[in-house]
Amino acid sequence: MAPRSLLLIILVVFCSKITAFQCNNKNKFSYPNLFPAILIFGDSTVDTGNNNYIPTVFKGNHPPYGDDFPGQVPTGRFSNGKLVPDFLASMFCLKETIPPFLTPNLPDKELLTGVSFASAGSGIDELTTAVSKVIPVSRQTEYLKEYIHRLTRIVGKKQAQKIVSEALVIISAGTNDFIFNFYDVPTRRLQFSVYEYQDYLQSKLTKFIKELYDLGCRRMVVSGLPPIGCLPIQLTLKLSILRKCVPMENLDSLSYNTKLVKLLPRIQQTLPGSKLFYADSYNRLLDMIKYPRKYGFVETSKGCCGTGTVEAGPLCNHLTPVCGNASEFIFWDSIHPGESVYRYLTEQLVKDLLPYFKPKAV
Ligand SMILES: *[C@@H]1O[C@H](CO)[C@@H](O)[C@H](O)[C@H]1NC(C)=O
Repeated sequence: MAPRSLLLIILVVFCSKITAFQCNNKNKFSYPNLFPAILIFGDSTVDTGNNNYIPTVFKGNHPPYGDDFPGQVPTGRFSNGKLVPDFLASMFCLKETIPPFLTPNLPDKELLTGVSFASAGSGIDELTTAVSKVIPVSRQTEYLKEYIHRLTRIVGKKQAQKIVSEALVIISAGTNDFIFNFYDVPTRRLQFSVYEYQDYLQSKLTKFIKELYDLGCRRMVVSGLPPIGCLPIQLTLKLSILRKCVPMENLDSLSYNTKLVKLLPRIQQTLPGSKLFYADSYNRLLDMIKYPRKYGFVETSKGCCGTGTVEAGPLCNHLTPVCGNASEFIFWDSIHPGESVYRYLTEQLVKDLLPYFKPKAV
């Protein structure tokens, strides 16, 4: 090889290294090269801004959302800062944040390392989105197809399949189905008992996981329900004395999760080569609510935005006052945890899933 072209190669490699996102090696929570990309499906817990691009009132792209995001930008994330997908992206040394798939003119580089297809307000049940017009989880696979198509144009069919099959897939949904369709707006309650509704949702979830599998996804993390009875909006609507968690709703979340823990290995058995991992958000969040001081929290039953008892989405806006220090609040608005909670949950999740997804030693 001519020395000149060798020099060119060295320069190209060197330059691409310094322009690429720098993974902080000093961070004890950083794990490079485990996943080539991250693909996200679900609701507002993992929507990094897709709702900005669809006609709905479920938007978080106005202040005070994003108050603690780099540059204090309201990005559409329902939080004061980053979400779990973003922390995962930086911990796996891919990039600082996960962009929403609907971003116009998304650069190839972003597509290669992963996007979010999630939509705030959505659920596993299509009925949950009938009024809000956001993207139900079941329709998010349509966007995955489009994503794979674009990925194939960039790197070719074989490489695109490899990226999708090795990508870390996150599915986080279900809370809105219970809030908007069962507890607070009792549409489905006229039709199902809570146990029947859990089974109904999980049969839809099974179908969704199989669709992802058929499109090439293999390594999937499925989140259980949080303690829904502890969300500030539920304490308000259920007129909870002293704003204590609503026990029935927490028991329902627990039984949903118990079913899901049993269901995932059964689905995995029917899908050769797949790995399905259950992510526990229930116990971690409940521990923070029970023992806030252990984590540096002070307020557990109200969001930081406004009165903290009802505001979310359009009700949490530039006219709404916010608390002095969001890091002391578990919840940012009446439904969504703040960035500190998400950071901690991600660190725990990664610790749990590493042994499960680590490639076998050769
Ligand atoms: C906000 O609260 C956190 C947690 O208690 C604390 O570590 C931090 O110093 C506080 N920040 C300010 C600006 O007071």
